[in-house]
Amino acid sequence: MTGINDLDWVALREDDGRAYLLQKKSGEVKIKGLGRFDSGQLLDGCSIGERIQVGQKSLTIVKATLPEARRNMVRRAQTIGIKDSGFLISWLGIGVGSRVLEGGHGSAGLAMNIANVLGNSGTLISVEVRDEHASVGKQNMDRLEEILPEFPNWHLVVDDLSNITNRVKEICIEIDSAIIDVAEPWNVLKSVVPCLRVGGRIACYCPTSSQLEKSWNACEDENLNIEWAGEIIERKWSKASKGGVRPGNQPMGHTAFLLIATKLASEEEE
Ligand SMILES: C[S@@+](CC[C@H](N)C(=O)[O-])C[C@H]1O[C@@H](n2cnc3c(N)ncnc32)[C@H](O)[C@@H]1O
Repeated sequence: MTGINDLDWVALREDDGRAYLLQKKSGEVKIKGLGRFDSGQLLDGCSIGERIQVGQKSLTIVKATLPEARRNMVRRAQTIGIKDSGFLISWLGIGVGSRVLEGGHGSAGLAMNIANVLGNSGTLISVEVRDEHASVGKQNMDRLEEILPEFPNWHLVVDDLSNITNRVKEICIEIDSAIIDVAEPWNVLKSVVPCLRVGGRIACYCPTSSQLEKSWNACEDENLNIEWAGEIIERKWSKASKGGVRPGNQPMGHTAFLLIATKLASEEEE
């Protein structure tokens, strides 16, 4: 079993999957759903993997990772869930060392998933036009940085994505991928595409079909090659009360259409 040092983050997990993030340090904390207590005293002498009693609740101490951080995040704007972010990260080839632009940053739902795979050598540029959304996203990212063993070189730029080319180029010469989650992606492509390396990919997250169509046309106008467009359907199964397993009663409804395009080399001069 792994011991818990001062300032380490852990998650206290209920048997039904709910989890509460907790940092070991002296002084009273208030955790919604658990109450007030001194986490330093509570966790003193405990190890990861043990059971612990907090009030009436019997909880397991587990390592804090991305799923626990997501469950405990502060939410303001609508977030991109794992159904779509997992697909985008894999399709765009985002991994250790990648240089990624994402915006609007909102509450950092997507950014947290990206940061989780970039490692220390990756770069993540998050762009958000609204101060109050940027500060919620930053709160979630700051906590994730304390939890993850590795965290990318993260830049939060409070600005409009349609005006971002120079700022991005100051941070890194070019980016490998970009994920655009704003209401009008077609208005920001002109500013993002010049930052993308040839062969790099851009994805637009489009809740409605008209957003998909306009983004599609705008990508083609920017000489991008459309690689994939569509949506990911998730159908969760559960155990039936009279035996057997079956699709649950509440399938995941529509979230968004995803559009993925890649940058081509410029035409050769005659
Ligand atoms: C749906 S939220 C993004 C959610 C985020 N991707 C997540 O997964 O948590 C859209 C965000 O885009 C921001 N936004 C809208 N237009 C923008 C623009 N032109 N440039 C930068 N941010 C923009 C909004 O303020 C809002 O916070």
